[in-house]
Amino acid sequence: MKFDRPAGHNPIDQLRVVGKPTDRIEGRLKTTGTAPYAYERHDVVPDQAYGFVVGSPVPKGHIERIDIRGAKASPGVIAVVTTLDMPRLEKGPMNAAYLFGGAEIQHYHQAIAIVVANSFEQARAAASLIRVNITGQSGQFDLSTQVADAPLAHGKIPPLDRVGDFDSAFATAPVTFDQTYTTPDQSHAMMEPHATIAAWEGGKVTLWTSNQMIAWARRDVATALKIPPENVRVDSPYIGGGFGGKLFLRADAVLAALGARAAGRPVKVALTHPFLMNNTTHRAATIQRIRIGATRDGKITAIAHESTSGNLAGGGPEAAVSQTRLLYAGANRLTSMRLAHLDLPEGSSMRAPGEAAGMMALEIAMDEAAEQLGMDPVQFRILNDTQVDPEKPDRQFSRRQLVKCLQLGATHFGWNRRNSRPAAVREGDWLIGMGVAAGFRNNLVTKSGARVRLGDGGLVTVETDMTDIGTGSYTIIAQTAAEMLGVELGQVKVSLGDSDSPVSAGSGGQWGANNATAGVYAACVKLRRTVARKLGLDPDMAIFAGGHVQAGGRHFGLADATRDGELVCEDAIEYGDLDKKYQQSTFAGHFVEVAVDAFTGEIRVRRMLAVCSAGRILNPKSARSQVIGAMTMGVGAALMEELAVDRSRGYFVNHDLAGYEVPVHADIPHQDVIFLDEVDPISSPMKAKGVGELGLCGVSAAVANAVYNATGVRVRSYPITLDKYL
Ligand code: MOS
Repeated sequence: MKFDRPAGHNPIDQLRVVGKPTDRIEGRLKTTGTAPYAYERHDVVPDQAYGFVVGSPVPKGHIERIDIRGAKASPGVIAVVTTLDMPRLEKGPMNAAYLFGGAEIQHYHQAIAIVVANSFEQARAAASLIRVNITGQSGQFDLSTQVADAPLAHGKIPPLDRVGDFDSAFATAPVTFDQTYTTPDQSHAMMEPHATIAAWEGGKVTLWTSNQMIAWARRDVATALKIPPENVRVDSPYIGGGFGGKLFLRADAVLAALGARAAGRPVKVALTHPFLMNNTTHRAATIQRIRIGATRDGKITAIAHESTSGNLAGGGPEAAVSQTRLLYAGANRLTSMRLAHLDLPEGSSMRAPGEAAGMMALEIAMDEAAEQLGMDPVQFRILNDTQVDPEKPDRQFSRRQLVKCLQLGATHFGWNRRNSRPAAVREGDWLIGMGVAAGFRNNLVTKSGARVRLGDGGLVTVETDMTDIGTGSYTIIAQTAAEMLGVELGQVKVSLGDSDSPVSAGSGGQWGANNATAGVYAACVKLRRTVARKLGLDPDMAIFAGGHVQAGGRHFGLADATRDGELVCEDAIEYGDLDKKYQQSTFAGHFVEVAVDAFTGEIRVRRMLAVCSAGRILNPKSARSQVIGAMTMGVGAALMEELAVDRSRGYFVNHDLAGYEVPVHADIPHQDVIFLDEVDPISSPMKAKGVGELGLCGVSAAVANAVYNATGVRVRSYPITLDKYL
């Protein structure tokens, strides 16, 4: 189905099932521990052996020799494969670091061997007996020393945008502001580590794994193993968090396949948490300079955002200026991304790549500029709102209600009780502050397919390679099919994550919900027409409701259509150029209240509110969970999260869940989420957009601004730990 004009009225608009705050259909399986995650899939194939991955002990160098004699002789060992046994494996287009093969080390804990044994303990013990000789090389590990010489980045997102003449507009602006902010390296720190079980049958391999993007994984496995993609099956029905860390193929999948081939039996591999934080990817640190020039009454006339991040050769920048190209008005603009070479592990996508880190800086800058202008920070943002793409004024936003988010949020949160003078509100030993930030994340549309079966008794089955990374995909897909076919939610079964199913948009960039359900919508439209024809009804008139179909005064049960057997329809949503005509984005107003202990500096977040403008909300319950999860992640980013770089040895020191701090329940107060009642007919027939990343973008700055309002100390280097302002 081609989607190339704004959506008109359609069966989703009934909102009989869609739009309801529905419990997750797979929730019971997950909360009772019966949903099997990749490493727990004991029954998919017999005789599973255990693989343990060995990583490089140095960040850069050339391997001279790997001595595996001790490991091979160790009890229970079946096979050892080392990186010297093969040339560098080809990698997919989205990986910067090579996953395996060859003598060159690109980063610390890059995989250099896998040991396969009868038990996990035997594999791990044998792995510790491997001896490696490496000629080490010096590397660059410190972003701050590389900023001055970093060249412009290259890649899909233009590294440099200029509109008007920033320099002269800034030089002549009555009020100017110029500050630099830093964000640290961050880890996805998902609960479920990367894990794969691999089994070969002839030249074909099956991977039971944990991956957000099934079609990409299949393609990249085929590339690495030099086999045709049709000889690869990937299956990933449950995923214990990804946050972008499982968008691209990682070492667990490739090494499980290689280990299984060498061992002649199925092999399961989990990367341990202490290993994966250096072995896989992370969100790269940034240094961001922001300049704002404004009139005395607060109109932005010039805005510049220049970001530098680092990466391995072949890696891209953290696109921290993306939102600054779209968020606020202002005739003269400059945005740039520079990329330094660093020999740290690979920087890559982490939840809301670009905007999450970019908003952490921009939205403090907006707070600072507002204060300098003597304006309320909510008003300053509202004054500089735009309904068109500020770089391309003939492009409108498809739907943009940032102003409403801020106004409603301010009212709901009690913003008028905020004292604009910092450090002025005290309750006992606690200094109290409120902060605000805008939220912004783009809405991406991309082809997504599904197959729908109508079987015995009106049972509906949806099959798509879409994944559920804890987001609620199962449920909103079931809701979509139930709405379209006029059946109860319990009549719909959903099969996800299998590469034998039609290729979907997958889970990434908060595009999953809108695109994957739109693909199911397309397949259901086809099935509705097939059912109608089968029953001799006019397909254009048929109404599906209550397990029945009717048209022209004739009335059938759905089951009547399947008398001669199951009906199967497959289709995909494909987008025309609406996306080029309109800018599609999502918006939020984030409000945070903190208390800071006047003596110890301890920060407690007391209240949080997000008001979101993100199209139709398909399931307010799972959408709210996405947003409060993201707000929680934003508290982590603001106050705790930092991969500490060992600048001489070149690795992340706190590479486990004990040393890498994220919020716990006691850190998180009551969180409120309000979704504006909104539809976006430009986005898809679902009229929905993403929220999963929106909730993160801006919230950390709202925390930072609240801490400033409480204490009067402005911290521009995340995380905001008490040593920085005491
Ligand atoms: Mo997201 S970082 O695109 O999974």
